[in-house]
Amino acid sequence: MIYKKQNFPEIKVIQVVLILFLCTACKNSNQKTIEAAGLKNVSEFPIGTAVNINRLINDDRLMALQVSNFNSITATNDMKMQSILPAENQFNWKKADTILSFANKHNQRVFGHNLIWHSSTPKWVEEKGAKDSLWLDTFMKEYIHKYVGRYKGKVAGWDVVNEAFESSGDAYRKTFWYNNLGKEYIANAFRYAHEADPDAVLFYNDFNIERDTTKLHALLKMVDEFKAKGVPISGIGFQMNIRMDIPDEIIAYSLKKAAETGLQIHLSEVDIIFNTHNDERLGGIENYSVLTDEMKQAQGEKYKNLIKMYKEIVPKKQQFGITLWDFTDRDTWIIGFFNMKDWPSIYDDKLQPKPAYFGFLEGLKD
Ligand code: XIL
Repeated sequence: MIYKKQNFPEIKVIQVVLILFLCTACKNSNQKTIEAAGLKNVSEFPIGTAVNINRLINDDRLMALQVSNFNSITATNDMKMQSILPAENQFNWKKADTILSFANKHNQRVFGHNLIWHSSTPKWVEEKGAKDSLWLDTFMKEYIHKYVGRYKGKVAGWDVVNEAFESSGDAYRKTFWYNNLGKEYIANAFRYAHEADPDAVLFYNDFNIERDTTKLHALLKMVDEFKAKGVPISGIGFQMNIRMDIPDEIIAYSLKKAAETGLQIHLSEVDIIFNTHNDERLGGIENYSVLTDEMKQAQGEKYKNLIKMYKEIVPKKQQFGITLWDFTDRDTWIIGFFNMKDWPSIYDDKLQPKPAYFGFLEGLKD
């Protein structure tokens, strides 16, 4: 018997309801499968993300994604000097302690970012230090001793000094620290951190070293000098806030040169950006104002290639891990910092996985 559809409208309704139900069930189960796969579960090295701890613990969905994908955690801002010691003698350990207890509960490694960075030096330190460099060196020593000592054995590694070279080229950045203590402040920071926790992995961390070979070679020269003088550096952190148009060949070259030092290699702040910022706050050109499917796919490929290069070029025993800087397009620092649209993360602004997520996953599995 052949039914004429219009005679049985209720069948049509049932069909639509069924299809809708199946679609939702299918989407949920896809989502669950993805989350069950979790990046950390298919990786031989730690996979981390930087987070704002208060935002994380107050957002169930974000937290579920964080816990299922990552086994290493870094604070975006909460462990910088500006947060830890905003005023003289007023240590503020609260958020760092919260990160540690969160990490402990969820079996995650804590990575300390950072000890010395010109961009996060409190005003009061600058004012006092500019008048008295002896005080400044003693302050740096005591700060590092107290901070690293407090988390001895609990924080696995530290970005001891962040961004001590200019954005491009081979010159040391003329920061407050450099101007008052000379370049020796870098070596001393490593010495002080090592004194406070001899087992912590101690990193020098910077950006553009995957694309600017002059800057990379200046950093490698510093590493050689450190080794010759017995300065306890144990890792190089590539921030790796890369752009879609940075050639993979240059990234591969830089990783290889850095790995030849024998130090630990951390991709410490990964995101893959479309627009062209100029490394300065609020600076750059917004070429892209809409994210197309094609761009999403290309970004997925770029994530995959990056992970594969890390796995293939960096020897296993030097693979400290890969850390994303925020992991959703909703929370990414890129948009606010450079004041332009972008979609650099593996989850979109609705917290759904992007092709970037699957590219990352494939890169790990390959
Ligand atoms: C960023 C934070 O994510 C922002 O919230 C803040 O406004 C500026 O700092 N390189 C680093 C990180 O080493 O500390 C920076 O974090 C991003 C660039």
